[in-house]
Amino acid sequence: MSDGSTLTRSERLLRACRGEAVDRPPVWLMRQAGRYLPEYRAVRAGLSFLDTCRDVERAVEISLQPLRLVGTEAVILFSDIFVPVLSLGIDIDFQPGPVIATPIRSVDAVERLTEPDYEASIPYVFEILRRLRAILEPEQVPLLGFAGAPFTLAAYLVEGQGSRHFAALKRLMYAEPDVLRVLLDRLTEMTVSYLNAQIDAGAQVVQLFDSWAGILAPADYRRWVLPTHRAIAERVDRRRAPLILYVNDGAHVLDEMAETGADVLSLDWRVDLADAAARVGRRASLQGNLDPCALAAPPDAIAKMVGELARAAAPARGHVLNLGHGCLPETPIAGVRAFTEAARKLAEPGGR
Ligand code: CP3
Repeated sequence: MSDGSTLTRSERLLRACRGEAVDRPPVWLMRQAGRYLPEYRAVRAGLSFLDTCRDVERAVEISLQPLRLVGTEAVILFSDIFVPVLSLGIDIDFQPGPVIATPIRSVDAVERLTEPDYEASIPYVFEILRRLRAILEPEQVPLLGFAGAPFTLAAYLVEGQGSRHFAALKRLMYAEPDVLRVLLDRLTEMTVSYLNAQIDAGAQVVQLFDSWAGILAPADYRRWVLPTHRAIAERVDRRRAPLILYVNDGAHVLDEMAETGADVLSLDWRVDLADAAARVGRRASLQGNLDPCALAAPPDAIAKMVGELARAAAPARGHVLNLGHGCLPETPIAGVRAFTEAARKLAEPGGR
């Protein structure tokens, strides 16, 4: 199997992440479990989002839905980047985005956060992972864990909710940098221990979502974000589980991303994959990067775009086919199926 042919789904993803030979890119989709699936809405019926995350049976079922229904080749834990934040003693409500009743804007507020004890406060996350791994191991389907990156978590915690300009967050950056520094340090510690706990519970690959780091100028990114990514890449047990780093809107910081030590750089559709492959070289594999809205195209057009992405990424150390951001509630199911089917056909003669 060392030549990369007849690989299991687990081998294909792990090898692509580490830059070893594969027959074709593995495929999964960010935010693959969720509102675009009627089966998700049926399992959720009557339950709040957080209660669904806490309900082990339902969360396991929702995590498996994309594998069974739309042909993705990896399963990602059903949860949210704000679940571990509950362990810090912060109250969060989903409306549907996260809302924090008392935003964190002072060193005092950071110091009042509790020391996380995940097994005590959010045991369901690890139980979901253990059950998923037991189900997926015989099928040789890989299991992904994930966490929000410190900057993205801080953005919501400081603003109290999502925002267009993140003015309160940027005010801290420029006017009270010590507050943001202690908050980011605290969240970096949390993220390292949370991802390692997920690896202990069975996650074989972990993805760090930095959805908002792209709002920063390159110099601010280097000062505030890069050290958090580096610390996480250094301290997460990447020998047991490769680390995927996703930065939304991060074309202007690709070189910095390549310096973090992450195994895979997950890119949005604003980046040309051939260009990224040339710039990143052997330092990391690439993941991405179809515009999620492109899944509205007819199946043959989706297949053509998948072929183009695979060809563009071919010089990269490894390539994991994915979207450039998460599935949207309006994503057509037929488009998701066409995407995963096109990926499988890449292995056929003349498939590229
Ligand atoms: O990928 C998966 O299928 C696993 C589950 C997952 C969810 N959220 C479930 C969810 C993952 C990996 C996330 C990550 C997440 N959550 C991010 C990073 C990725 C990104 O999209 O940029 C962010 C920024 C959040 C915060 C968050 N959670 C927002 C902004 C929202 C509301 C709007 C939206 O995007 O859906 C949520 C709620 C949420 N998280 C839902 C789901 C399925 C919708 C809840 C519902 O069904 O009402």
